[in-house]
Amino acid sequence: MATKLTAPPSDTKEIVDVPWAYRDTVARLSPGGRYIDAETDVDSPWVPFGESAAIKHLSFDVRTNTYSNILWMKGPGTIGTHLHRGTVTMVTLTGSVRYLEYDWVGTPGGLILETPGEAHTLVTEHPEGCKLFGQMNGPIEFYDAQGIYMDTVDVWWFIEHYENYCRENNIPINQKLYL
Ligand SMILES: [Fe+2]
Repeated sequence: MATKLTAPPSDTKEIVDVPWAYRDTVARLSPGGRYIDAETDVDSPWVPFGESAAIKHLSFDVRTNTYSNILWMKGPGTIGTHLHRGTVTMVTLTGSVRYLEYDWVGTPGGLILETPGEAHTLVTEHPEGCKLFGQMNGPIEFYDAQGIYMDTVDVWWFIEHYENYCRENNIPINQKLYL
C-alpha cells in the first residue's frame, strides 16, 4: 500500500542509494543542480544598472527564457513601468519595495508573486533602497512615461548585460550561471 507521508523521514543522516532507473540519462542530459554564492562577488559581480542600481546575475536558462538575479537599488528610486509576459517570483532581502499600482509594501523575507500580463512600476522609498532576489520568466516590455513601448528585455538581454560587463572588466565569465 502506498505511504502517505505526514513528514519526511529524518531518522538517519546518511546518503541513501535511491533506485532511480533514469540515472544514466539524467547524468548525460541534465544541466544539473548547483550552488551560486550571492553574498560575495566570487560567482558573479555587481553590474551597474543605471546610475543608482546594480544587478548580480545568478542564473540564465535559455531553454525556458528564465533568469534570476539580485536587483540592488542603492537608495530611493524607481524602475519604470513595465509589462511582464511571464512570471515573477521575488523576495525582498533588504530595505523595502512597493509598486505604485498595488497597496502593499514588501519587506525582508516577504514573497512577491506576479503573473503574466501584470504592468507595474517598482519604487523603493527606503533610505537605503533595497535588495531584491528575483526569478523571472519570459519577456518584460518597458514603456515610457507616455505609455509608448520602448524595448523588451529577456534572458538574452540579461546574458549580454552580464557578459559585456565581464569582458570590459576582465572578469571571467562563470559557466555555472548557465543552466
Ligand atoms: Fe516587474
